[in-house]
Amino acid sequence: MTLCALLLLLCGCSSGDRFREVAIEEPYAHKVDSVLSLMTLEEKIGQLNQYTGNYQATGPVIDDTTKIEQIKKGRVGSMLNIKGAHQTRELQEYAMQSRLRIPLLFGLDVIHGMRTIYPIPLGEAASFDLDLIRRTAAGAAREAAAQGVHWTFAPMMDISRDARWGRVMEGAGEDTWYGTHVAQARVEGFQGKSLADVSTVMACAKHFAAYGACIAGKDYNTVDMSLLTLHEIYLPPFRAAVASGAASFMNSFNDLNGIPATGNTYLQRQLLKGDWAFNGVTVSDWGSIGEMVAHGYVPDLQEAARAAILAGCDMDMESRAYVSGLQELVEKGEVPEAYVDDAVRRILLKKFQLGLFDDPFRYCDPEREAQTVLCDSLRMLAREAGKKSVVLLKNDNAALPLKDFKGKIALIGALADSKVDMRGSWANEGIVEEMVTVREGLEARYGKSNVIYADGYDLETNRLQLPQALNAARRADIIVVAVGERYFHSGEAKSKADISIPKEHQELVSALKGTGKKVVTLLMGGRPMIFDEAAAHSDAVLLTWWLGTEAGNAITDVLSGDYNPSGKLPMTFPAHIGQIPIYYNYKSTGRPESKQRGYTCCYQDIDFEPAYPFGYGLSYTTFEIDAPTLEKREWGLDEEVVVKTTVRNTGSCAGKETVQLYLRDLVGSVTRPVKELRGFRQVFLQPGEETEVSFTLGKDELGFYNADLEYVVEPGTFCVMCGPDSKNVKSAEFELVP
Ligand code: NOJ
Repeated sequence: MTLCALLLLLCGCSSGDRFREVAIEEPYAHKVDSVLSLMTLEEKIGQLNQYTGNYQATGPVIDDTTKIEQIKKGRVGSMLNIKGAHQTRELQEYAMQSRLRIPLLFGLDVIHGMRTIYPIPLGEAASFDLDLIRRTAAGAAREAAAQGVHWTFAPMMDISRDARWGRVMEGAGEDTWYGTHVAQARVEGFQGKSLADVSTVMACAKHFAAYGACIAGKDYNTVDMSLLTLHEIYLPPFRAAVASGAASFMNSFNDLNGIPATGNTYLQRQLLKGDWAFNGVTVSDWGSIGEMVAHGYVPDLQEAARAAILAGCDMDMESRAYVSGLQELVEKGEVPEAYVDDAVRRILLKKFQLGLFDDPFRYCDPEREAQTVLCDSLRMLAREAGKKSVVLLKNDNAALPLKDFKGKIALIGALADSKVDMRGSWANEGIVEEMVTVREGLEARYGKSNVIYADGYDLETNRLQLPQALNAARRADIIVVAVGERYFHSGEAKSKADISIPKEHQELVSALKGTGKKVVTLLMGGRPMIFDEAAAHSDAVLLTWWLGTEAGNAITDVLSGDYNPSGKLPMTFPAHIGQIPIYYNYKSTGRPESKQRGYTCCYQDIDFEPAYPFGYGLSYTTFEIDAPTLEKREWGLDEEVVVKTTVRNTGSCAGKETVQLYLRDLVGSVTRPVKELRGFRQVFLQPGEETEVSFTLGKDELGFYNADLEYVVEPGTFCVMCGPDSKNVKSAEFELVP
């Protein structure tokens, strides 16, 4: 026995490693403990073991034909990559053959829909509509639960300021405050009011933590950051997820300041299970326990198991570290059994809360499955989410909408008719044939004979097919061209050094512009992209992301003006790759950036302005937002500050504006960003109509983490800004006084 293990035992399992047993309330405490008391050590460790099923692989698969036998022996607590009422029933029946008949938990990456696919999460975040975001998560949960799934590995709440990182498509973008609200909405949507409701699933706050800050945007890369930045920028969505009752957390792959997240005691024991009193389950990421060997943090798989369980990782996803090494560690006294018990209690609690001990098959109902999947109401929801996620980036001379358009439309670009691309990344449960393409959407709205389609380029190679494209363009009255990324260019392990769209796509847009006709560009992709040449040669640009099942109809709703676009960018779009990481809430520096350059915080060779700022997005109408007003200049530290502004529709059609409020604390005991989003309101106004919008700023909006990592509100002068995006703002000042 090592000295460390001896100390652990002597001190009742907590030699400064912050072990704190989960607090379980009745009636569950009694039930959980009575099951636990019946379990052998091997059965306990079995509960901590999660294997992938065969239906799909979302990580490197280990060949193993013994899984079913292991389930029957009670050596498996959970399976991932399993779906369907029949398949889940079959596996659950094996679990019912084990000695204690403890049901399996089935997990799956339900990232933006199950069978009905909604916009990719980054796209949906552009809606700035938290109610919608909650409803799509609830819709996804309903379908997933009907297909036998108890647990989604979502939402991903990693803040990221680096568009090279392929996983930005899975999150809510660069802003912590907005990302926190989106994370909460998604958790609430997935879990509903109670896990006992058979149309809800357990949510999983991932990836804990700071995965989005991987150096140079390379997936899985090291993260090195101050604790201040960790607490201020990266942790708030996770903390809020605990407050929203998230049932589980997933560790991240990265090393954080020298310690891999999966073996990180500070993250899991001190913060999550300690300070934040989280009573759910922590699961490793795929193989991330074993990967601590490659990190150079532990010498072998058994030591990896020890590091992970001591640090607070309850379930082992596909490392086989717990199932192979933990028993010996406990028997030798090197890991206190109390650690294993605590992890098991957390997992059993969830199984009780889901009602699986009462009826292990309650999620396996083929009739409910058939009635729920791809039902009309979910398809309608997908269309609503799709149109609300589109962002209008440019609209010169009111090129759009194609309201009562009677002419011919040249629809060019193979992406416009690619079903698999409409579905987007991380959406394998959506059936490709069920996706509606832009071509189908336009043909349905304007008539087949009025849409002249041409591929324009080869989808696989991007080789241009110019003669065919120009021929279609010449026969039409307006050109709609689809350009951008393929769906598999963003997502896990999809980092890119160059986020420009293919040069052939840019050339295509320029060539089409050469016909003299109006060019409307549909920009597709899962991250901020650089598309300057295409933008310059377009009359209008719609950012359409990957919108899912109803993509083509949703895009047509926007093109036609049946829906007036209202999306806003949740991430800054850089003008140049060299600007990355670029984000709106940067700090001032001692030599703030200046157009004159000189000895300032600038580049010699490129501008510092992005192509499109955070929060940006146009409408077919125009809005004016007044400077903010406050009824007094001085406010007490404990008071809630009320800020008002007026917004009016100055254009000619009805539309929705997202009024954004930004704040700057001018002087702080630690320096503060030049602006931070602290509120937004969506208003729908008829032409000429105006309305007053009011914001209340309390501690959550006015405070920050000081150098001692305490959340404080400091007296002093604040600048409050209101506008339609993070750049075009009008401001006022107020004082907070002690
Ligand atoms: C690895 C990914 O990082 C994680 O997000 C996902 O949930 C697991 N694989 C399971 O598929």
